[in-house]
Amino acid sequence: MASAFHLRPAEEKDLARVLQLETGVCTWPWTQKQFESELVQPHSHFLVVEKKSTSIVVGYAVFWMMYDECQMINLVVDSDYRGLSIAKWLIRRGMWIAFQSNLEKLTLEVRKSNIPALFLYQNLGFVTLGIRKGMYRDGEDAYFMEVLLRV
Ligand SMILES: CC(C)(COP(=O)(O)OP(=O)(O)OC[C@H]1O[C@@H](n2cnc3c(N)ncnc32)[C@H](O)[C@@H]1OP(=O)(O)O)[C@@H](O)C(=O)NCCC(=O)NCCS
Repeated sequence: MASAFHLRPAEEKDLARVLQLETGVCTWPWTQKQFESELVQPHSHFLVVEKKSTSIVVGYAVFWMMYDECQMINLVVDSDYRGLSIAKWLIRRGMWIAFQSNLEKLTLEVRKSNIPALFLYQNLGFVTLGIRKGMYRDGEDAYFMEVLLRV
C-alpha cells in the first residue's frame, strides 16, 4: 500500500481535489477559504495522500497543534480507496508530528453514528472521554475521544 501512495503536506494545487472530496462526503463542507487558511496557519498540519501513479489526492487530514494537545479536525478518504489503511496512515503521521512537538495527546470529535470512524479510532487506541450534546448542526451528539502520546 505504502509504495503506491505518497503522504505529504498539502499544497495550494491540492485544494480543488480536496474540495471535491469534502463536498462529496460532508453535509456541511469546509469552504475553499477554510482549507486555504490551513495551508498557512502555523498551528495547522494539513496532510494529503496521493496516488503515485496518477498524482491524484485520495485522502487528507487536518491537525491543529494547540497548547499541550493536537486536535484532528478533518479527515476524509475517497470512497474508492477506503479499507487500505490510508486513514490510519494519516492519523499515525499526525500522532508522530504531535509527539515530536512534545504534545501530550491527540483528541477529536466524531458523530455517534459514524461507525467506520469509531472503529478506526478505537483501532488506533483512542478512548471516549465524553459526549458533546448536540454538537452538530443537525443536533447529533459527538463522542469526544483522545489517545495519549507519551505513555
Ligand atoms: C472513516 C474513514 C476516514 C476511514 O478511512 P479508511 O482509509 O477506509 O480507513 P482505514 O482503511 O485506515 O481503516 C483502519 C481501521 O478503521 C476501521 N474501519 C475503517 N472502515 C471501517 C468500516 N467501514 N467498518 C468498520 N470498521 C472500519 C477498521 O478497524 C480498520 O482497520 P482494519 O482495516 O485493520 O480492519 C473513511 O471511511 C471516510 O473518509 N469516511 C467519511 C469521512 C469521515 O467520516 N471522516 C471522519 C470524521 S470524524
